[in-house]
Formats: sequence, structure tokens, C-alpha cells
Amino acid sequence: MSEAAQTAPWWQDAVIYQIYPRSWADGDGDGIGDLPGITAHLEHLADLGVDAIWLSPFYTSPQHDAGYDVADYRDVDPLFGTLADADALIARAHQLGLRVIVDLVPNHSSVEHPWFQAALASPPGSPERTRYLFRDGQGDRGEVPPNNWQSLFGGPAWTQVVEADGSPGQWYLHLFDRSQPDFDWTNPAVAAELESVLRFWLDRGVDGFRIDVAHGLVKAVGLPDEEPSGTAPPPMWDQEPVHEIYRRWRGVVGEYPGDRILCGEAWVSPLERLARYVRPDELHQTFNFDYLATPWTAPAQRATITRSLEQMGAVGAPATWVLSNHDVVRHATRLGYDQHADSGLAGGIGPGDPQPDVELGLRRARAATAVMLALPGSAYLYQGEELGLPEATELPDEARQDPTFHRTDGALRGRDGCRVPVPWRSDAPGFGFGPGPATWLPQPIRYGDLAPDRQRGVPGSTLELYRDLLRLRRELGLGRTRLAWTDDGSATLLGFTLTAADGTVIGVLANLGDRPVVVPEGVEVLVASQPLTSPGELPRELPGDVTLWYRSAR
Ligand code: GLC
Repeated sequence: MSEAAQTAPWWQDAVIYQIYPRSWADGDGDGIGDLPGITAHLEHLADLGVDAIWLSPFYTSPQHDAGYDVADYRDVDPLFGTLADADALIARAHQLGLRVIVDLVPNHSSVEHPWFQAALASPPGSPERTRYLFRDGQGDRGEVPPNNWQSLFGGPAWTQVVEADGSPGQWYLHLFDRSQPDFDWTNPAVAAELESVLRFWLDRGVDGFRIDVAHGLVKAVGLPDEEPSGTAPPPMWDQEPVHEIYRRWRGVVGEYPGDRILCGEAWVSPLERLARYVRPDELHQTFNFDYLATPWTAPAQRATITRSLEQMGAVGAPATWVLSNHDVVRHATRLGYDQHADSGLAGGIGPGDPQPDVELGLRRARAATAVMLALPGSAYLYQGEELGLPEATELPDEARQDPTFHRTDGALRGRDGCRVPVPWRSDAPGFGFGPGPATWLPQPIRYGDLAPDRQRGVPGSTLELYRDLLRLRRELGLGRTRLAWTDDGSATLLGFTLTAADGTVIGVLANLGDRPVVVPEGVEVLVASQPLTSPGELPRELPGDVTLWYRSAR
């Protein structure tokens, strides 16, 4: 690897693995994952070959939105352990060479946060209320919400409170669940508090933050109604002053040694606007949800990859890539549906809905991951995808816990299907999720066959494929290469080369069609997401929905 590549900061090509604490590993047997459980399983990740972990929130919380409703930003919820457990986790991860990124939820707190409780106990106009977005209602008696904004989880984005004297009172804004009141970021006390939270965790040794709802912190002045067909960004999203916040935070993390990072969860489109979050003095990275949402077709993939590299490159930031997370249907399932039609999966999948082609979904997921992990930049993996876990698509309604399900009376199934506890051992109760049989959501039977003990050391397993891809990606320095297309704009083939600073060239060929294509003669196969034609059989063929990494014969 060249000297420049060696000295470039780690995050420019890092592979970061997302752990959803309640569903990864349970240490105490209550059926909910926890920090000691995570610490005990970290070797799985060192062995997998990722660079860092990102932990979804584990802070004190009534868990109305699975911890994205924080009541104390400086403590660990007893469900997940203690601060000492967090310290132990960070120390063990560092020992194994894994960096640790934690989730920061700065857009809203929990209703149980002491500030919100103080606001409820204080009269309209009091300083306590100005840390959130309390407003008088419209209508003669203030019975109509202050504006027309809707909660992302369904229903109005406003809830009316009862004042101390028992009268119907002001309304507070919550872009998500009513248990998640939005802060007022024009109040300097809010900015000071969240900055102090950043420092609290930086002092404990974390390597960075994933910033929840990074595009939502600042609302348009006056909280105007949302126009149905507005051309400007909606008044609650992507407002100019958020950038000032990230400039300040970049300064804060920059005061600490060791290249700590900020990664934004900003559902901002088009990519030109997203790129503004990762200008040199703002966030280091931002999730690329355009890529996640791109169908598995060659033209669509090519276009998104090209635009992502261009737009992020234009501001000097690494492109990032992601296929799954805790808010979307797992890609092994998403890709098991027709890629030329809108599958309407955004709301989740339930027993009465059309079910995916499970085998095809996994085959395509492996091929898509093999494309993703070749790409220059940084990539995010979601727990369990290395096992090929599908979404749990047949969860009974009674088991569902996501507030979106309840706030929409079940019209949206919600996100529980991607949050089911992961299997560790095929023959153990709860597939080894914890010491006992309990799991907070029921696991699909087929999760047993996908447990790591069934896959480790098994050639061709999804786990071994991920290990191979990650090892080669690191050895070849793929995250720091230059991409050039070689596929002539084909409707079914993706082909590109990756050139390293030292001139090494690696080729990637992905067949997104359903007919096999001939693999050029003489190439050295580095890895393929499924076996090519049987050994010895010539010419070698790349079947449909398979990705190949190769080196040209010299
Ligand atoms: C983000 C999180 C999601 C959460 C929401 C509200 O989108 O990823 O899980 O529900 O923010 O905090």
C-alpha cells in the first residue's frame, strides 16, 4: 500500500458493523440483548474482519422507541447494564482492534428526560418550556395543533398537554413518537447540553458518533405549515442552520486525539444536498440511503454508484455504502421481490403480505454485498447480514413493539422484522441468543440453520463469504482505489475496475440478469458470491445474480 494510503485516516475506508444492542446478544437471560452480552461476543467481529462497531442507543430510556427516546444521555439503561459495562465493552473492543461509535440522539429526548418533566411542571412561556417546541394551539380554544406537520410514525406531530391547573394546555412538537419531544435548537442551553454529552462519551474513549436524524435538528423559523408540493426542503428537514451545529461539533471531536468521527443519519436527497453535510469542516461521513434504496438492476446501481462517488468526491469526503439497518427491511429479503416494481416494503412485512422469494433474496444479497464491499469509501454492515439473515416477515401482530405499528393501527407493520434477536448456536434454546430460551421477539425457525456455528469454516457459507470479502478488501486496499466502469452501460451486467495508488488493478463483474455470462479467459478468480461453473468446465460462466472479483492474468 502506498504511503499516502497508510497515513490517510482510518474512517476513509472503514467497514463499520452496526449492533442493535437489544437484539445482538443477551448476557443475563432476560431475552433482551445487553452490553455484557455484546462484550462477550466481540471476537466474532474481530474474526469477521470489520474495523469498527456502531452501537444503537443503550442509554437510560423508557424504551418507547427502543432507546431512541433518551431520558439520561450520560448513563446506561439497567436493561443493557451499567456505565462500567460500557467502559468494559469499549476497552475489550479496543483490545481487539475494533473502534467504537455510539449513537447520539440530539433531535429529541424522551418525555422522561428531567428537562421535559420540568417543562410540563412549568407554565407556558417559562424558560423550562423553551428547551422544547411548545406552542399554543390554533382555533378558539387552542384545540387545533399549531401547524399541519405529521409525525413520521403516523398521526399529528403535536401533542397537547394538560396544564398544572388541569386546563387543556399548549402543544409540543414530536416528529416521531409522542414520547419523543423535539428540542428547540435555537435555545443555546440545548446546544451546550448536547456538546457536553459529546464530551462525556469522548472522555470515556469512544471513537465517534452516529448522529440520529441529523437533518432534523433545526426547524424553519416560525414553524410554517408544510406545503404539499413545495420545492424547498420541508420546514422540518435540512434547514441551513444545522450545518453550523456540525461545524462546532467537528471542532469538538477534533480536540481529541485518535481521529474520532461524526457520521450523520440524514435522509436527504438528492446526493448534492447530502454532500453538504460532509464538507471538510462538517461531518466525516453520512449514510448513503440513496444507495440502500437503489433497486438491484444494472442501470440503477451504476447510476447511484457513479453519482455517489462524484458528489462525495466533490467535497473531499469518502462515499459510504449501506444495504441494511435497523429501520429498513433486511436486504436479503428486499431483494427477494421483483426489482422492477415498487414492492411497497417501506412499511414492513407481515403474515398477510406477499412473501419474498427467500432463496433468490439471499443469492442477490450476497451478490449485492460483494459489489458494495468492493467500492471505494466506507461501508456499513447491519448485524446478522453476515449470516444471511432474512427479515422476520411473519411476526404476529401481538409480538410487534415498534411504535409505528401502533400509531398507524397496524397500517404500517413497522420495523420489528429486522430487529429480531440474532442466532448464535443452532441447537440451543433461543438459538443461543442468551443463556436461556427468552427472546424479546420470536425468531423464525430458519434462523437456526443460519447460526454462526453452522457456517463457520463451511466453504460457500454466507459467513465465510463475508470473511473472504472483508479480508480481500483489506489486503487489496479496495476502499482506497479509483473506480472505472468497464461494462459499456449494459442493461444486466455491472463491470468495473479498481485501481490502487500502486497501480494494482482488480476487476469486479456482477451479473444482474438471469442468463449466465462467460468469464473472460485467463482471469484469476479472487472470490465469487456463488460458485462459478463446476471446476474444470470451460469456458467458466458467471450465473445470474452473482458477483465476481478477479485479477487479470499478467
Ligand atoms: C432514526 C432511528 C430510528 C428512530 C428515529 C427516531 O431514524 O434510526 O430508529 O426511530 O431516528 O429517533
